[in-house]
Amino acid sequence: MAEPNILTREEDRVGIITLNRPKALNALSGALVEELLNALRCYDKDPTIGVVVITGNIKAFCAGADIKEQRDLDFVGAYSIEYLKNLKDGIESIHKPIIGAINGYALGGGCELALMCDIVYAGKDAIFGQPEIKLGTIPGAGGTQRLIRAVGKSMAMHMILTGENITAQEAAAAGFVAKVFDVEETVPRAIEYAQKIASFSAPVIAMAKEAVNTAEDLGLKAGLHLESRLYYATFGLADHREGFDAFLQKRGPKWTHK
Ligand code: CAA
Repeated sequence: MAEPNILTREEDRVGIITLNRPKALNALSGALVEELLNALRCYDKDPTIGVVVITGNIKAFCAGADIKEQRDLDFVGAYSIEYLKNLKDGIESIHKPIIGAINGYALGGGCELALMCDIVYAGKDAIFGQPEIKLGTIPGAGGTQRLIRAVGKSMAMHMILTGENITAQEAAAAGFVAKVFDVEETVPRAIEYAQKIASFSAPVIAMAKEAVNTAEDLGLKAGLHLESRLYYATFGLADHREGFDAFLQKRGPKWTHK
């Protein structure tokens, strides 16, 4: 039987997806993307899971689109491949937070997959880059749009136009990476943070994620309007009453919705 392209396991309300094409440095084949999206959708529906962590291995989180699979595509063939579009749309449709736990190479579509995550934690040897220019192409899974927001326009242009990589420390300084850990600590610490997030009220987490992600799509006025609608909506939740009561009664909260 063929090896699965991803592996999944669960640890105390956290779903962990490990990309599993080590011989191709976890390159994004059509099959891998399909399995990744299926796993994300299952976890999104699973009430026992609050947060999802996506990771790779020590050498590579993901080295981008599968160059061997794409080698012979012409314009029509490339235009009609669905999986990169499915990846962008599919990840955007997930309500639960997605954490990228990145060691090694996150290049091309791998860097773009990291950019699609809600939080990125990285090992100190992680490398981020958009080397497509060296292949005679440009980023095709959101890199030209999301990298500007993650590292600023000048650094994004530098990476995309020169094909040079940046380190985990540079990515953290720019705000793309939230925290840098020792390599072997990256996944356990990402799971710890995921468990912390998953211990809060599930609908409140989903509303916070929606409000923050909307900032990238809406102007400030519309974004602030949506934020206040979601903020007031939390006042309708039993978890809101419980959180306030627990604080005032100096005890830990017991959430209804987890
Ligand atoms: N697709 C398919 N196979 C890949 C791959 C990719 N993106 N990246 C690496 N591999 C394969 C290699 O072909 C090699 O396979 P073989 O053993 O069969 O030869 C194996 O993985 C190991 O790779 P290397 O021998 O090259 O390993 P290395 O340690 O010498 O170099 C690396 C590591 C610097 C990451 C190098 O593999 C590399 O530059 N990879 C390509 C990165 C890249 O250009 N990514 C962008 C892809 S295009 C894209 O992603 C478009 C988009 O926006 C969606």
